[in-house]
Amino acid sequence: MIKPVAYKKTLEGKSNAHLLTFDDGRDYVVKYFQPGFEKTLANEWVAYCLARYLGLPIPFAQLVEIPQEFSSQYPELSQMTQTQFQFASLYVPDCFDGHQVTEVPAISNKENLAGVILFDYWMCNRDRTRKNIILCDDTPNSYRLWIIDHAEIFASYNWTQEDLESLPITILKSATHQIMACFIDSEQDFSEQLEIIQTLPIHLIEEIVALIPEDWQVTSEERKAIVSSLVIRRKKILKKLMERFIKRVYRPIHEQEK
Ligand SMILES: Nc1ncnc2c1ncn2[C@@H]1O[C@H](COP(=O)(O)OP(=O)(O)OP(=O)(O)O)[C@@H](O)[C@H]1O
Ligand SMILES: [Mg+2]
Repeated sequence: MIKPVAYKKTLEGKSNAHLLTFDDGRDYVVKYFQPGFEKTLANEWVAYCLARYLGLPIPFAQLVEIPQEFSSQYPELSQMTQTQFQFASLYVPDCFDGHQVTEVPAISNKENLAGVILFDYWMCNRDRTRKNIILCDDTPNSYRLWIIDHAEIFASYNWTQEDLESLPITILKSATHQIMACFIDSEQDFSEQLEIIQTLPIHLIEEIVALIPEDWQVTSEERKAIVSSLVIRRKKILKKLMERFIKRVYRPIHEQEK
């Protein structure tokens, strides 16, 4: 397992994410367990693993152990709650967020965009703001889009089991989804992604959920509720949400072009 070697800074945002250098020579954005935001790390973990399986553009991530002796050297870290594991996401350098780029001429990985939108609907990610995508210069006239910050999947960073059983099934208000929709070539992209999500092995979901570290305070009932809400949403709800998104957001954008 990679080990932290240097503290760089605390990043802006409610997660109090910290930028640390590890002994593989790379920088990672590290999130600690925070009281009041109890489900943040479990949400990040589940979203990361599923997004990776789906081939979505999410920065490489892993569970890390930040030793107490390391954290205690820095006031910013020593005040954080110590659990055995933290969540670390590889820092993608030299990028902009969706607010910093006023005009997006093209997206080089546009084939991923329908997948990101469906993923957000499947996970009930209500936080796909412009700050939660990052855009990196790719060719001189296009950006590569990455997705970050899955602390608020399942509609909240501190959901309860009851919340999971009654997740919203409405259109998400997301200017970022609208921007992404502009670059999606065909409605077919959405149905192809739906098929991939619907056929992802249930055992994979169960394994990912089983691997949530014990001290992140997700009970076994809550773990079962994560699996069943994902299974129910992909089977019963996702297609309807996809059709609604296409009708209300995708088509109005693309009809203007005709
Ligand atoms: N993998 C990454 N590569 C580059 N920058 C990142 C990465 N992860 C996070 N960041 C930067 O750190 C900031 C905070 O991270 P993140 O959005 O995950 O946490 P947050 O505190 O929950 O944010 P918010 O409060 O805005 O929801 C991001 O807005 C982004 O600028
Ligand atoms: Mg954020």
